[in-house]
Amino acid sequence: MKILVTGGTGYIGSHTVVELISKGYTPVIADNFSNSRKDVLAAIEKITGQKLIFVEVDICNKESVLKIFKEHSIAATIHFAAFKAVGESVEQPLKYYRNNLVSLINLLEVYNELKLDNFVFSSSCSVYGQTQELPVSETTPLSKAESPYGNTKQIGEEIMAETLRFAEFNGIALRYFNPAGAHESALIGEYPWQPPSNLVPVITQTAIGKRESTTVFGSDYNTKDGTCVRDYIHVVDIAKAHISAIELLIKKKNSSKFEIYNLGSGNGNTVLEVIQTFERVTGQKLNYKLGDRRPGDVEKVYADTTKAGKELNWRTELSLEDIVRSAWAWEKHINE
Ligand code: WQD
Repeated sequence: MKILVTGGTGYIGSHTVVELISKGYTPVIADNFSNSRKDVLAAIEKITGQKLIFVEVDICNKESVLKIFKEHSIAATIHFAAFKAVGESVEQPLKYYRNNLVSLINLLEVYNELKLDNFVFSSSCSVYGQTQELPVSETTPLSKAESPYGNTKQIGEEIMAETLRFAEFNGIALRYFNPAGAHESALIGEYPWQPPSNLVPVITQTAIGKRESTTVFGSDYNTKDGTCVRDYIHVVDIAKAHISAIELLIKKKNSSKFEIYNLGSGNGNTVLEVIQTFERVTGQKLNYKLGDRRPGDVEKVYADTTKAGKELNWRTELSLEDIVRSAWAWEKHINE
């Protein structure tokens, strides 16, 4: 069974391709390497021992999208392909609105025109903004997105909801909390294209000596140790949730035409807890200092994972220890 994976050479996409193959699916990877590297394909083939079907394509080009579906009988699509750097989205909002929304609209139009079914959309916890309600559930009211990136995810979900009201096909949006970690082989992971802003890669780059130090953005929040709380989830757990999502759709067990699921561990950890866990698990002393708050950061957010647990029969299997251990192994691999 062929599954189209747009953005399949990206961080979460590549890990999902590995899981799809391990479950007997045939991924068709569509990517233009705008935020990834060609050698990810070889790494996936090394991990899985399988030759990949790859199409180099910009999903913003509708003709190219149509061509994929004419050449392959696709049972489901997982749409990862999008720009996701929050800071860059603030500086270049139109680049984000065009890329992230035109790509989605092209796919949904082709789904309508060719009468296709089963569409999974990569969304984000950033759609929640700062909520008072914790843990956040899928019914927690959304706040104004903190960035154009987060807004493209909010708008993307609205486009899906409106389209699926009348379209013939079914869809799911998956809201990722804080993806981190890497595959146990250390052959795929989060490539640091631009200097990463995410905490875990910043920690591993500091530990390996590529960065002078890690700054903790704010230590005066109303949390157990004054630093922000987030829900860190291992990228392999996120990848497995995508298999559960396409299987729910393919087996027509979805309770409505458009369902949204939180993908988090359900646990909140502070920045200092992540640093302390990294030091304990790896034996590496981290050079960090307490700094000012980062504008746009929410104080505390973590997921209510009840719905995904019940309807996708999915829950995280990997821990924060697994996250920092695998992230460190990956950092060492890319610096060999
Ligand atoms: C986590 C915590 C920082 C770096 C972002 C996107 C979100 C999603 C996940 C795509 C925060 C602190 C970080 C550093 C620090 N991406 N931190 N020093 O901002 O929660 O979420 O990634 O879907 O859309 O917004 O992740 O890793 O940047 O920050 O203290 O050098 O670590 O303040 O509390 P964030 P993050």
